Amino acid sequence: MKLLVTGGSGFVGSNFIRYMLGAYPDVSVVNLDKLTYAGNPANLADVENEPRYSFVKGDIADAAIVESILSEGGFDAIVNYAAESHVDRSILDPKAFLTTAVFGTYTLLEATRKFAIPRFVQISTDEVYGAIMEGETLESAPFEPRSPYSAAKAAADHLVASYWSTYQTPVVITHAANMYGPYHYPEKLFPLFITNLIEGKKVPVYGDGMLVREWLHVDDHARAIDAVLRRGVLGESYNIGTGDRLPNIEITKKLLALLGKDESSIEHVKDRPGHDRRYALNSQKIRRELGWEPKIGFDEGLATTVEWFKANEAWWKPIKSGEYQKYYDAQYGGDRVS
Ligand code: NAD
Ligand code: TYD
Repeated sequence: MKLLVTGGSGFVGSNFIRYMLGAYPDVSVVNLDKLTYAGNPANLADVENEPRYSFVKGDIADAAIVESILSEGGFDAIVNYAAESHVDRSILDPKAFLTTAVFGTYTLLEATRKFAIPRFVQISTDEVYGAIMEGETLESAPFEPRSPYSAAKAAADHLVASYWSTYQTPVVITHAANMYGPYHYPEKLFPLFITNLIEGKKVPVYGDGMLVREWLHVDDHARAIDAVLRRGVLGESYNIGTGDRLPNIEITKKLLALLGKDESSIEHVKDRPGHDRRYALNSQKIRRELGWEPKIGFDEGLATTVEWFKANEAWWKPIKSGEYQKYYDAQYGGDRVS
């Protein structure tokens, strides 16, 4: 199987590439990534000399680059991970979110048609469904995005679905829960809190901390995308979830315990504007129809993720002391602390 993976130098895409190359000797991957602040070649340092892996620096919205890669021929699928992914950044400056999600996805869809690629997998999020105050969301639920990030992702998903109805472009869409695991950029809840606690800093809990997310280990996600690539029905969408739903404050307390800290390390800060209070996926369809299920329980995944960050300071320390620090200071310095 020959794959074009876009956004493969970020958190979720790099773990997918590592998983596929490790699990299957007959899989080869071309990774097209723009290397934004979140794209980091160090995420794939262990496979960069692998002959079945190659990297192209470029933008998915650049048709010339996309077409030059696909002209090599032989691609079985495109898996589109490329996106701006952080809700807080989308609130500060939505433009790049829209450009990549809408024009980037459009460019890949056109190339899928032109080169008759057999399968296009759009990696999306449960956030397109909006806040789910009770019960669970099915794939058939309407999109009600409430942040510029989720609105941009929903726009891309609508476009992908429209290519199926209009041109029968062979697409599949996935909606995954919040992920955690190794190589997670330290602006998101898990890696920010773990690394802050290792550094002896406080952790900024937004609002009342009672916001609920559903949590999925990034390796379980890689296995789900593998199943979607091999058995996913064209034109369908699949939720990928675990049922592991916890309020942020409970996760924070688990992290404090794992890292030997007490609640004096918690700093309550102003809430995110438009903050979705709860996400909850019904993921029976992928379990029933594709035979996937998560293998990594939440407490086990949390503990191994903490261990990974403890063992890999050389990966995250340069990120936290670089460009990211300016963003962090702007977010949490001064008036954000209530
Ligand atoms: P990330 O920010 O860590 O990585 C995104 C990657 O995309 C980076 O390597 C970046 O350089 C690249 N990229 C951005 N714009 C690009 C462009 N125009 N052209 C080429 N490359 C570009 O994000 P992530 O957490 O790895 O998320 C990957 C995908 O998974 C996204 O589509 C996101 O919506 C989806 N997703 C993530 C989560 C999660 O919890 N992290 C959950 C559900 C879905
Ligand atoms: P995040 O990791 O940004 O993912 P998303 O917003 O895409 O769900 O945030 C997860 C939850 O943690 C969300 O409810 C916001 C909250 N959060 C904090 O309380 N403090 C923080 O510093 C961050 C980054 C997130």
